[in-house]
Amino acid sequence: MSDKAIITYNGQSYELPVIEGTENEKAVDISKLRAESGLITLDFGYKNTGATTSAITFLDGEEGILRYRGYSIEELAESASFLEVAYLLIFGELPTKSEFEKFNADITKHTLVHEEIKNILDGFPSKSHPMGVLSSLISSLTAFYPESLDPNRSADQVYLSVIRILAKMPTIAAWAYKNELGHPVNYPDNSLDYCSNFLKMMFAIPSDVYKADSVVADALNKLLILHADHEQNCSTSTVRIVGSSHASLYSAISAGISALWGPLHGGANQAVIEMLEAIRKDGGGVQKFMDKAKDKDDPFRLMGFGHRVYKNFDPRAKIIKKAADSVLAKLGVNDPVLEIAKGLEEVALSDPYFVERKLYPNVDFYSGIIYRALGIPTQMFTVMFALGRLPGWIAQWKEMRENNEPIGRPRQIYTGAKARPFTNIGDR
Ligand code: CMC
Repeated sequence: MSDKAIITYNGQSYELPVIEGTENEKAVDISKLRAESGLITLDFGYKNTGATTSAITFLDGEEGILRYRGYSIEELAESASFLEVAYLLIFGELPTKSEFEKFNADITKHTLVHEEIKNILDGFPSKSHPMGVLSSLISSLTAFYPESLDPNRSADQVYLSVIRILAKMPTIAAWAYKNELGHPVNYPDNSLDYCSNFLKMMFAIPSDVYKADSVVADALNKLLILHADHEQNCSTSTVRIVGSSHASLYSAISAGISALWGPLHGGANQAVIEMLEAIRKDGGGVQKFMDKAKDKDDPFRLMGFGHRVYKNFDPRAKIIKKAADSVLAKLGVNDPVLEIAKGLEEVALSDPYFVERKLYPNVDFYSGIIYRALGIPTQMFTVMFALGRLPGWIAQWKEMRENNEPIGRPRQIYTGAKARPFTNIGDR
């Protein structure tokens, strides 16, 4: 098989190298095409454009395969802890017992945030969406740790920045929720594991002896693992591109949080529950909403359906659907919205519009139902996604920096006015 592709343009042929990944994916390397032929490639939404080579996550959308560093998402979700997966993503291998103990101890040591962060938090109106608060407060870490501003400083400094953000993000996320409620914040409890500590900071109230239910903590652990990385998606590409300018880790992650917020990406989990609630309030019939989703003049989309890369099923959605049934049963929660979701899925999966376009439930379709059962409020759903995605963002940022990748800077085809003379305002 040839390891070259040939483009013919204006009677001249240009040979382009074809590169191959470890799972036999192939790409035409067009990096020299412009210099040789004057042509650039154009691909709105980067639907068929690879931005990098990466050794972190493998995804096969046709087969519904997702692996972190070679380990299947099914096995990791079943058996690993979120911090083990974080270590795997960031450092490339599963930690040994002593590596894990050190990593866990380092994170635990840094869970407190600077008291002045509370002053910034107090400045936000209580109606603030927690995603906006999270993105701002993560960006504000640059002010408290100015040594983090230079991502080239030293490996130890990068390690410290990574540990700090992994440790502090749950505290900041829980505080963003407390701000929304107008309640006093809870400080971290370092005797607890990552998930139980987060749940305590979210739900404990003064004078209350709070202990996270192990079913809830386990479900949260699984959800965070399922969200931990997803190769070059919108928010991860944002993190890499911001980091490519040698901006700090905290600025890059803050930008990633903003990218995640939109309803076409991580914001879909909030939008799904709002849609299911709207269906319930409307009497529970799904056909009206199906018709709206199919109407090209209506901007409404079936939230939680469709994916840029998965065209048969989303393996994360399969795991979450099963987990939703078991978590609700274990917690004794009867959520009418689960039945609506199952009914909607059944109708959509047999509707030619969805079948032809290969639109299946994605990770966000059932995750909101579990979050609700765990007591997480709807506005916090996307924050939960961000907490889960954090190790993936860090791993992708670190890989990009270690490979010394060039600054991200796409080209364009200009379609505006040709050169024309300026006219004075009175002459227009
Ligand atoms: N409801 C109705 N029609 C849809 C939907 C949907 N949810 N998703 C895609 N389509 C249609 C779309 O209108 C288009 O139809 P046509 O070919 O007739 O123009 C076709 O399916 C292909 O869609 P696309 O918008 O070109 O596909 P994309 O790869 O650009 O978008 C997507 C992917 C996830 C943004 C999109 O499917 C969507 O908006 N889904 C709803 C939002 C959602 O659930 N997002 C969460 C994604 S999973 C979490 C994450 O990793 O971000």
